[in-house]
Amino acid sequence: MTPPSLRQLVTGAARVLGEAGVPSPEHDARALAAFALGVPRLLPGLEPEPPADFPARFAELVERRRSREPLQRIVGLTSFRFLEVEVADEVFVPRPETELVAEQAIVEAVRLRAAGVSPLVVDLCCGSGVIAVSVASEAPGSRVLAVDAAPQAVAATRATARRAGVEVDARTGDVRDPVLLSELDGRCDVVVANPPYIPPDAEPHDPEVRDHDPDLALYGGGTDGLEVPRAVVVAAVRLLRAGGLFVMEHAEVQAAAVRAELERTGVFDDVATHPDLTGRDRMVVARRTAGATRSRAEGGPDVEHSPS
Ligand SMILES: C[S@@+](CC[C@H](N)C(=O)[O-])C[C@H]1O[C@@H](n2cnc3c(N)ncnc32)[C@H](O)[C@@H]1O
Repeated sequence: MTPPSLRQLVTGAARVLGEAGVPSPEHDARALAAFALGVPRLLPGLEPEPPADFPARFAELVERRRSREPLQRIVGLTSFRFLEVEVADEVFVPRPETELVAEQAIVEAVRLRAAGVSPLVVDLCCGSGVIAVSVASEAPGSRVLAVDAAPQAVAATRATARRAGVEVDARTGDVRDPVLLSELDGRCDVVVANPPYIPPDAEPHDPEVRDHDPDLALYGGGTDGLEVPRAVVVAAVRLLRAGGLFVMEHAEVQAAAVRAELERTGVFDDVATHPDLTGRDRMVVARRTAGATRSRAEGGPDVEHSPS
């Protein structure tokens, strides 16, 4: 009997994945086949002749995806803006919507760099470090720090930076710590964060998220999921210099609550919600008032930028 062709195997796999409720079965079947063949992608009409052990290896990968293991965790890689990112166990898989959050920080850092300033950018709750490493790559000349409570995330951030060939100072720390990075109080140009923000009673529907992303990366704490995001705001108030930029991702339903949280501090101007690419309200952007920073208010020195 003639063995099934690559095309037949991929079509069969797509059907199996579709029946299991996988959202993009054809794409995933082709991606798994490419991974099993060791090529970046399958080009239609130019599919290589599969080796004899391909059907068995492919079937194993398809079975993992059928049981809703995320594609990125199976192939061990994902992409974010211009980065190729290794997907590590116990570390959140970065999402496309966060690319726009990173962009706000990048645009600000590039703007400052053009003005002769060496921007100091802090990524809180950094996970695999995609925001921090994107800033370091796309706004060269920035000094970038990244913090996460999970040591696996800090190790992943270092790996992402190494792979991209940039420097990011990645540290283990809890954003609820009132003295986290206190040596930088009133000195940061940008504080950016994609913290956990899911409320405790809103378990994600997708098994890929619910069963494979770490709980620490998903649930924000408190009854509304905003305990960690609130701590991020408190840290940003302390860390940002006057005129510094704050950017934070949140869930669509949290836009008004997050804006109110920032306005309540009394130290942010231009508090605005921004949409993601699908038009949903997914991030807040605000500027630390140009008035006194904490260090000035407390009699500390004015913060000078070091032109470079
Ligand atoms: C939604 S993930 C985002 C990761 C990354 N910023 C991204 O966009 O892909 C949230 C991250 O916050 C970290 N985290 C949760 N609670 C934290 C806390 N109290 N202090 C610091 N990091 C925390 C988690 O370990 C996780 O890596």
